[in-house]
Amino acid sequence: MSVLVTGGTGYIGSHTVVDLLNNNYDVVIVDNYVNSKPEVLNRIKTITGKMPKFYEVDCCDENAFRKVFEKENITDVIHFAGLKSVGESVQKPGLYYSNNIGSTLTLLKLMHEFDVNNLVFSSSATVYGVPDHVPLKEDDPIGGCTNPYGETKLDIEYILKYETSMCSKMNVAILRYFNPIGAHKSGLIGEDPQGIPNNLMPYITQVAVGKREHLNVFGNDYHTVDGTGVRDYIHVVDLAAGHLAALRKLTEKPGLVIFNLGTGKGTSVLELVTAFENANNIKIPYVICPRRPGDVDENYADASKAFKEMGWEAKLNIVDACRDSWNWQKNNPKGYDK
Ligand code: NAD
Ligand code: UFG
Repeated sequence: MSVLVTGGTGYIGSHTVVDLLNNNYDVVIVDNYVNSKPEVLNRIKTITGKMPKFYEVDCCDENAFRKVFEKENITDVIHFAGLKSVGESVQKPGLYYSNNIGSTLTLLKLMHEFDVNNLVFSSSATVYGVPDHVPLKEDDPIGGCTNPYGETKLDIEYILKYETSMCSKMNVAILRYFNPIGAHKSGLIGEDPQGIPNNLMPYITQVAVGKREHLNVFGNDYHTVDGTGVRDYIHVVDLAAGHLAALRKLTEKPGLVIFNLGTGKGTSVLELVTAFENANNIKIPYVICPRRPGDVDENYADASKAFKEMGWEAKLNIVDACRDSWNWQKNNPKGYDK
């Protein structure tokens, strides 16, 4: 009776594995380390006292992946494995389609073959495209994604809808994450982007640690509280807990369920900068730059469905996340590299 966690050494996966192990689930991780490091496993063991089973396997490699299903008694799957850089997906659309959709199709084939019927899938608020209102509810229109990464999430959502309608045994929870930030309070695991960070919080922490001179704020002429972009920043520890709630939900055999995982609260870029400065007593110099193509004014969740139907809600706030992101970065200025 094990939970297979694909992409379990990545940012969100590692925090979820910690929560699973702390709640006495047996965990089997599959990851090909395309965007993570083996050191993550040692850190998970330090935090939980348990070393999860691990297979270095590409989820697109059907034969290698099948061996994991043959060896392990898998009952549930959380599928994090995927490439997630919006910019890279524009440069290499084929890679994103083959990796993200290919890995999911291979996984589904093996789940059918081994009669594994419960799946939690990492989707994204990006499936809402350019929203015409906020907060976003799960039954708001999806589509109109502006990049291949977002398209892969949308396509996988459609595949999972068809799968559950064709196969009455299948139970799938699609989780649409808003903007994950923060780190485990131990400072042992956190987000470790390669190269120049695309996302706001890792950029801020790299400015704080002296790796970058200043933050570039992409636009201050949006229709928002202070002109800078507004997002729903959710602490990764809360997000991880959402996956355990989803696993419990699947035991009710609901077929397909879809949940936003967010806080329901929007925060602007400058509000996040101020929160970080106040939480950590560090100044973050910034420069106002032109808008980043594809960015929207505001994007935040109505997260009430997850509370009503799974009893899940975010408990931590952006001050907690700013403190924990910095704790991770200052203790690991080079991420997982020594
Ligand atoms: P991450 O890159 O830290 O983790 C993904 C993990 O999957 C990595 O460890 C990577 O090595 C692994 N992986 C990728 N392709 C693989 C393959 N073919 N076979 C085996 N392993 C593979 O990313 P994350 O931030 O932890 O995101 C996890 C999931 O959540 C992704 O699917 C991502 O698209 C989705 N998501 C992330 C965000 C975010 O802002 N972080 C927002 C919405 C959705
Ligand atoms: N921003 C800056 N400077 C930076 C980085 C970001 O000003 O260096 C701004 C952006 O313009 C935006 C806000 O900070 O207003 C947040 O940007 P992020 O790149 O951190 O996050 P996004 O909302 O653009 O996108 C993220 C993920 C997507 C995912 C989406 C919704 O990168 O993959 O959240 O979950 F689809």
